[in-house]
Amino acid sequence: MGPLSAPPCTKHITWKGLLLTASLLNFWNLPITGKDVLLLVHNLPQNLAGYIWYKGQMTDLYHYITSYAVDSQINIYGPAYSGQETVYSNASLLIQNVTREDTGYHTLHMIKQGDRTRGLPKPYITIKNLNPRENKDVLAFTCEPKSENYTYMWWLNGQSLPVSPRVKRPIENRILILPSVTRNETGPYQCETWDRDGGMHSDPVTLNVLYGPDLPRIYPSFTYYHSGENLDLSCFADSNQPAQYSWTTNGKFQLSGQKLSIPQITKKHNGLYVCSVRNPATGKESSKSMTIKVSGKWIPASLAIGF
Ligand SMILES: *[C@@H]1O[C@H](CO)[C@@H](O)[C@H](O)[C@H]1NC(C)=O
Ligand SMILES: *[C@@H]1O[C@H](CO)[C@@H](O)[C@H](O)[C@H]1NC(C)=O
Ligand SMILES: *[C@@H]1O[C@H](CO)[C@@H](O)[C@H](O)[C@H]1NC(C)=O
Ligand SMILES: *[C@@H]1O[C@H](CO)[C@@H](O)[C@H](O)[C@H]1NC(C)=O
Repeated sequence: MGPLSAPPCTKHITWKGLLLTASLLNFWNLPITGKDVLLLVHNLPQNLAGYIWYKGQMTDLYHYITSYAVDSQINIYGPAYSGQETVYSNASLLIQNVTREDTGYHTLHMIKQGDRTRGLPKPYITIKNLNPRENKDVLAFTCEPKSENYTYMWWLNGQSLPVSPRVKRPIENRILILPSVTRNETGPYQCETWDRDGGMHSDPVTLNVLYGPDLPRIYPSFTYYHSGENLDLSCFADSNQPAQYSWTTNGKFQLSGQKLSIPQITKKHNGLYVCSVRNPATGKESSKSMTIKVSGKWIPASLAIGF
C-alpha cells in the first residue's frame, strides 16, 4: 500500500516563517499501524532556507524531530526523532511504520531565506581544558552568547548528544558538564543556539581525552621455544598519547621500544620477560610479563628418521 497523505489542518503565519500543522488523529479508524504515512506539503513557498518538523504543536527544541537545510541539503535530527521520520527536499515528511505513539499533531516550520542569520549571532564554545585525563578531570563546555531567548543544543561528531544521566546540563543546557570524561567522549563538539527562526551551529572544538596505558598485551602469546629459533616479541597497550615501551628479562633492562628480538635463542634465554608501558601525559604505568621456556634443539622429523 502506498503512503497515506494528511491534509494540513491549520495554517497560520507566525512572526517569521510559516507554520503548518497536520494531524494523524483522524486516521485511527483506519488500520494503518505498521504502514507508512506521508505528510505531503503542497504549494511550498519559494525562497525557503529550510524546514523543521516538530512533534506536536510546540515548536521548541524538545519537540524537534528533523530538519532540512536547503543550501547544504543536510538533514539534522533532533531529540524527538524516533528513527522513522524522513523529511524530503520538498518538505514532505515520511513516517515509516507508524505506531500509536505517532498519533497527534505534527508541525512544519518553514524558514524563509534571510530569517536565519537576522539577529542570531554565530555561537561559540568556551572550555578551559581540551586535553583532559580520563576518569580524572571534570569538564565544562559553555555555549556563548548567553540569551534567555535561545535554546541550546550539543553535538558530538555531528550527532545530537543524547540526554544521558551521566552528563549534566545545568543552566538551560547552555553549559555541558562531563563529570569524569572517558575516551569515548573524544571528538569534535559543537553547540547550537535556537531561536524561533531556526538554529545556528558553532565551529567545532575538538576534545582529545588522554587515557591509558591499558594493560599491555604481548604477541605472540606462546611461551615454548626450541634452541636456535628466533624470539620476536611485540608489546601493545592502548594509550593516548602513545605509550613509551621498555623490556626487561629476569629483572635486567633490555631495551626501550615495542619490539624485542633475539635471534637463535638458547636455554640461557629462559626466564621472565616483562613489557612495561608508560604514558607521559597521564603519568600512568602498566606492565605484562611472560615466562619463556627454551628446550633442546628441534630436529625435523624427516632428519630424525634418517639417523
Ligand atoms: C515530495 O517528495 C516525495 C519523495 O520524493 C514524493 O513522494 C512526494 O510526492 C513529493 N511531494 C510533492 C508535494 O511533490
Ligand atoms: C514496525 O514496528 C513494530 C513495532 O514497533 C516492529 O515490531 C516491527 O518490526 C516494525 N517493522 C518494520 C518493518 O520496521
Ligand atoms: C529576547 O527577546 C525579546 C523579545 O523578542 C527582546 O525584547 C529581548 O531584547 C531579547 N533578549 C535578548 C537578550 O536578546
Ligand atoms: C566506550 O564505548 C565502548 C563501545 O562503544 C564500550 O564498550 C566501552 O565500555 C566504553 N568505554 C568507556 C570507558 O566508557
